[in-house]
Amino acid sequence: PNSEEQATLEAYQWLSKLYHHLLGHSKDGKKALAYLHERGFSDEVIERFQIGYSPTSKGFVTQFLENKGFHKQVMANAGILTTSDDGEYFDRFQGRVIFPIRNHIGKTIGFNGRTISDQEPKYLNSPESSLFRKSKLLYNFDIARSEIRKKGEVILFEGSADVIAAHQAEVLNGVASLGTSLTETHASLLRRYVDTVLICYDGDNAGQNATYKAIKLLRKVGCTIKVASLPPNYDPDQFIQEYGKEKFQSQVIEAADTEMTFIKRYLKKDFNLNLEGDRLQYVEKVIEEIAILNSTIERDHYLRELAEEFKLSYEALSQELMSRMRNVT
Ligand code: UTP
Ligand code: MN
Ligand code: MN
Ligand code: MN
Ligand code: MN
Repeated sequence: PNSEEQATLEAYQWLSKLYHHLLGHSKDGKKALAYLHERGFSDEVIERFQIGYSPTSKGFVTQFLENKGFHKQVMANAGILTTSDDGEYFDRFQGRVIFPIRNHIGKTIGFNGRTISDQEPKYLNSPESSLFRKSKLLYNFDIARSEIRKKGEVILFEGSADVIAAHQAEVLNGVASLGTSLTETHASLLRRYVDTVLICYDGDNAGQNATYKAIKLLRKVGCTIKVASLPPNYDPDQFIQEYGKEKFQSQVIEAADTEMTFIKRYLKKDFNLNLEGDRLQYVEKVIEEIAILNSTIERDHYLRELAEEFKLSYEALSQELMSRMRNVT
């Protein structure tokens, strides 16, 4: 790394400590701590994940960095500070709870800051830089790595809050792609460690669409994929808060569906299966999905299931599948 990157890295480690300290030891920070407790985060995970707070002050952090001898312009270039049009420097994360984002060796390289007072946006990330590339980074990979190896499985969440809530519920192999969709780089990285990826995104439409996209990517790298489904208005963090860890483990994680079960349910939303025309279109869609499965056994299994479900002849579906497969290869 060049000297600016070195300084930025060093500043991130200092700030991470400072924010965490302020959470417990400032008047303003106590509000943030109460907010975290209210959300169900324990002191243990607050400690483990070094959650912090940036005070509602324009210049507290700026001053701190200046006292430590960091150049404000370098800090602004890295997106640690913000500049106004007339060249003044400001704290970037004012009034936000801070989730430090660590790289694979546990060094803080960015912050994920959540407002506790309805500021927009709800989450503010550090900007992209040569140190912090969201397309390559999986949140919590450093802490989760040994459990991921042990289980041969990784759980993919949407956000830091979900990863931390899951950790508190003793589901320790979770990572998140922070506020960006999963990339090919993420997928290849995961593939190096595991065979199986369990996707556990939010239960809303955005979460389902993102799940469908992630499946396509993870297939390309040859992962076995499972999908955990949450009720429409829940995300993992809310589910755990409301129903507790046992239900999260047994009804969400252990009850995960196969990718094809998810895909069939997902595609169904676009059709009215009481109508014959829609039914046939839906069946064709599902056959397209079956055609791109890697294993013959799986293709056969889902084809039989489909024939059964719609009282169609297995032979006819089989022929349809063959013609699709000639088209894809
Ligand atoms: P969500 O939009 O689902 O957050 O984004 P949420 O669950 O409603 O947030 P809470 O629970 O009220 O706090 C999912 C995750 O994506 C990340 C955040 O980590 C968030 O937890 N995210 C979202 C970003 O990093 N940047 C964004 O701009 C948006
Ligand atoms: Mn502490
Ligand atoms: Mn969401
Ligand atoms: Mn969410
Ligand atoms: Mn949430």
